[in-house]
Amino acid sequence: MNEKLLLKILNYQKDGIIILDENLKVKFINEFGKKILSLEENPEGKNFYEILKDNYLETVISYALQKIDEKNEILIKNEEISLNDNVYLLNIFFIERNIVIKLSDVTPYEVYKQAKRDFVSNVSHELKTPIAVLQGVLETIQNENDLTQIRNFTKIAYKRIQQMNNLINDLLTLAKLEIKEEKINKKIIKIRSTVNNIFNDLKSTAKEKNIMMYNKIEPDFKLFVDEEKFYILLKNLIENAVKYNKENGTVEVKSFEDKNYSYITVKDTGIGIPKESLPLIFERFYRVDKSRSRDVGGTGLGLSIVKHIAEAHEGKAMVKSDLGKGSEFIIKIPKN
Ligand SMILES: Nc1ncnc2c1ncn2[C@@H]1O[C@H](COP(=O)(O)OP(=O)(O)OP(=O)(O)O)[C@@H](O)[C@H]1O
Ligand SMILES: [Mg+2]
Repeated sequence: MNEKLLLKILNYQKDGIIILDENLKVKFINEFGKKILSLEENPEGKNFYEILKDNYLETVISYALQKIDEKNEILIKNEEISLNDNVYLLNIFFIERNIVIKLSDVTPYEVYKQAKRDFVSNVSHELKTPIAVLQGVLETIQNENDLTQIRNFTKIAYKRIQQMNNLINDLLTLAKLEIKEEKINKKIIKIRSTVNNIFNDLKSTAKEKNIMMYNKIEPDFKLFVDEEKFYILLKNLIENAVKYNKENGTVEVKSFEDKNYSYITVKDTGIGIPKESLPLIFERFYRVDKSRSRDVGGTGLGLSIVKHIAEAHEGKAMVKSDLGKGSEFIIKIPKN
């Protein structure tokens, strides 16, 4: 087979491939290899160390070269290295007196593995606390004769069971949305009355902090969405707007539209969200300030559900916030 053809094929390879001669002169580097090493010009003919900008890679390669052995073609096998915030698996071969370096990008897989680890530990943590409280309550009740005390303890237990129930429901909702198992049953709904129903659900929580809720959605404003899912989406946003609000604050729900999209906004006069947290706010389990959020309850799944529901409608969930002054969540949904 012709060599030119083989090298051309290597350019379409999704791994970085670099071939050096015995004196470490670059004989060939494919397009992906150039990208990984951030090279603009073709380095062929240059000494490899000259073009390397990463000291760690240089150290690994020097180490590999010490192991050159005619009988063993593999000098380095699947060594994980980080370059410019990406994770690569590095393999180095010694083939017919050439040094062949292969860098495979495994960043998405690493990110996935980390997310999975975080997820399991977060769920376990969120379940551990209410279970510990329940255990304590049941132990105490066993030796308690005072009916008033027993009632008080039962209330605590009930609250914790509710918390676990909410967590499990949120997890199930998320799981179904993520595997796209549940169908989106779109129909035309009048959002104004949906918002009124949610306000009604949240009336007593809002009253505790004297928060005024305003439904400024036009009476005939309609959306073509899954009614049940959109209720969950709006409830999460309005609940947050109340929960993270200040005493005597306000919550305002509005709607508008342009040619292709409908928009719903939920605006509050609450504590706001720091700029650095904004890109993370829709991630599973993310909470700005764990201690602050624990006071008001919640697991950090709400906004992740919001994002998934918006995306399941080919829409988008966005946020604007001014720390200390308030936040505004914007939901953008295609008209059809
Ligand atoms: N309107 C808001 N104003 C200020 N901070 C907010 C607002 N909405 C969300 N946040 C911040 O974003 C975090 C994530 O919100 P999210 O709704 O996902 O979780 P949660 O409210 O903590 O728990 P839950 O799963 O019960 O909704 C919150 O913990 C809070 O720190
Ligand atoms: Mg929430």
